Amino acid sequence: MSDNKIPLAGVIGCPIAHSKSPQIHGHWLKTLGLKGYYVPLHVEPENLRDVLRNMPKLGYVGANITIPHKEQALEIADVVSDHAAKIGAANTLVFTADGKIHADNTDGYGFIQNLRQSAPKWDPRLGPALVLGAGGASRAIIVALLDTGVPEILLTNRTKARAETLCQEFGARLKVVDWEQADDAVSDVATLVNTTSLGMTGKSPLTLSLANLNKKTLVTDIVYAPLKTALLAEAEAIGCPTVDGLGMLLHQAVPGFERWFGVRPEVDEDTRKAALK
Ligand code: ATR
Repeated sequence: MSDNKIPLAGVIGCPIAHSKSPQIHGHWLKTLGLKGYYVPLHVEPENLRDVLRNMPKLGYVGANITIPHKEQALEIADVVSDHAAKIGAANTLVFTADGKIHADNTDGYGFIQNLRQSAPKWDPRLGPALVLGAGGASRAIIVALLDTGVPEILLTNRTKARAETLCQEFGARLKVVDWEQADDAVSDVATLVNTTSLGMTGKSPLTLSLANLNKKTLVTDIVYAPLKTALLAEAEAIGCPTVDGLGMLLHQAVPGFERWFGVRPEVDEDTRKAALK
């Protein structure tokens, strides 16, 4: 990018008005004193290909991709990282000078970095993880947990077939637990993760019983509205370490920002405040 060009980036989704990414990237651009803009882009699925192909011509250096475009973005990209290919979805695109679209997925990185920063004593190798949900977010989290050395993942999902598909795909360390049996499965896990939308403001509550939960189990939720979900509040009352889901959103944004604007930003309390404004 030459000196007289202002780098642009954005987040593409449908809908997109709720996204916190513009506040996060805007905060970093401002506090780091960098040239550039980051904007929310509402794009209908049938227009995604055209939009992505034209963005570099408008001065865009890259984009984040969110619901419902993460799988389609992977198909459109010219170059796909091994990691994004494994997950089957892209959340971060980089447009290179030769006009090519490079796709990566930083959701799993964001998930792990959030836990490492917020719960430094957490060791995924100490015991199995129980993962609730088998959607897109779950795929990225499962790959990340496997990569960090978790010995076993107990996976439970309302629609069992989806969990079984992930088991076939990601291998021997995964075991499906019936959704109705999840209450019993919480007892021996080192890590408990909710990747479903249950517990989010306006959605149904998560009805998992934590009666069998061990005090040492780290409990985390990808839902961040509310910040303290009922799951986290209940786990905290038991004495478990808990980590909210906002940090995952903040940390997944770091690699994209660095690639587009040239500086690696910090995730700190001010970043959290900016995202919550
Ligand atoms: P994302 O990409 O955000 O993970 P998704 O692919 O739609 O979104 O997955 C949403 C997850 O929340 C799924 O695990 C879904 O369960 P199903 O596969 O059975 O649909 C789960 N989920 C959503 N609403 C639910 C509900 N009312 N009860 C149980 N699970 C629910």
